[in-house]
Amino acid sequence: MPETVLVTGGAGFIGSHTCAELLAHGYEVVVVDNHVNSSPLVLDRIAKTAGRPLAGAYRADVRDRRALTEVFAAHRVDAVIHFAAHKAVGESVARPVEYYDTNVGGTCTLLSVMRDHRVDRLVFSSSCSVHGDARTVPLTEHSPVAPTNPYAHTKLTCERILEDVCAHLAQMRVLALRYFNPVGAHPSGLLGEDPRGVPGNLMPYVAQVAVGRRERLSVFGDDYPTPDGTGVRDYVHVMDVAEGHRVAVEHLDDRTGMRVFNLGTGTGTSVLDLVAAFAEASGRPIPHQVVDRRPGDVAALVADASAVAAAWGWTTTRDLAAMCRDAWRFQQLHPDGYTR
Ligand code: UFG
Repeated sequence: MPETVLVTGGAGFIGSHTCAELLAHGYEVVVVDNHVNSSPLVLDRIAKTAGRPLAGAYRADVRDRRALTEVFAAHRVDAVIHFAAHKAVGESVARPVEYYDTNVGGTCTLLSVMRDHRVDRLVFSSSCSVHGDARTVPLTEHSPVAPTNPYAHTKLTCERILEDVCAHLAQMRVLALRYFNPVGAHPSGLLGEDPRGVPGNLMPYVAQVAVGRRERLSVFGDDYPTPDGTGVRDYVHVMDVAEGHRVAVEHLDDRTGMRVFNLGTGTGTSVLDLVAAFAEASGRPIPHQVVDRRPGDVAALVADASAVAAAWGWTTTRDLAAMCRDAWRFQQLHPDGYTR
């Protein structure tokens, strides 16, 4: 019998690509999403990419115990991947309570309902932002943590809750995956990143400049201690991240307890590197101008991704050119996003 994986936030950017990957590998997939930051139109597209339907899709909030209980009662859930969360750093500073409520409260409600239904296998969506302003890169899973905003604090808090739960409930198996900067899109062009309003992240902003929806990119600072002075990040193709989740599900039973892994490429890319790569992939110029640093930004975040490679043999296979090419295909096919 195929395994059933419940995916919270399954209509979001990383969630939708992960659902597509799981369906393509024969899993039964159940989505729970409240669609506050995702389009319900995505659900059909996930099925289309795999040529198979989802086993279920529910509009529900992860803080809603009754709704979650109904979902768990309707499906024999073997494992959960928990993406559903707020994720904008700037917004988290303005609305910290909401971030704790959804990200931490939602995780506790989910854990409690999982326990009621004797589900003890979980993959948790974490972030390299738990490291804050890294003194040295690359970052291993053991590098110091020092979150600098409420969003990153909620992710670290969840990791600590999960660690404690695993220390006291012997049968629990939890994998926390710390993503670096997921970008790109499904190669079919059916799934991609569809931010609401003005994009806060670099790649979707650049894509909208290329397609003519925005005039020019503001480069936030060129006086960082990096080779060209602009911020350096570890951009990782969302399909690699999706595969990482599928492989994580396959390895949930390696042992009980909690484990943390980085999902990144190990390669640092500056803002100007990315602009050049996107211009090349799209054949369009990317007008840009340097402006002041963005408050809260850090110089460089790059993964040491060797632990996950050693544990599971998982490494990324898609380079920056592929990330730009796929993001550009999605942008061209959806100049205005999914249009709800
Ligand atoms: N940048 C610009 N102009 C823009 C947008 C971004 O120059 O319009 C620069 C930033 O200064 C930074 C780089 O591009 O140097 C990447 O910025 P992003 O906003 O794309 O990504 P961040 O690394 O700031 O943040 C992302 C996610 C967070 C997550 C974090 C982990 O937005 O949710 O990665 O590092 F926590």
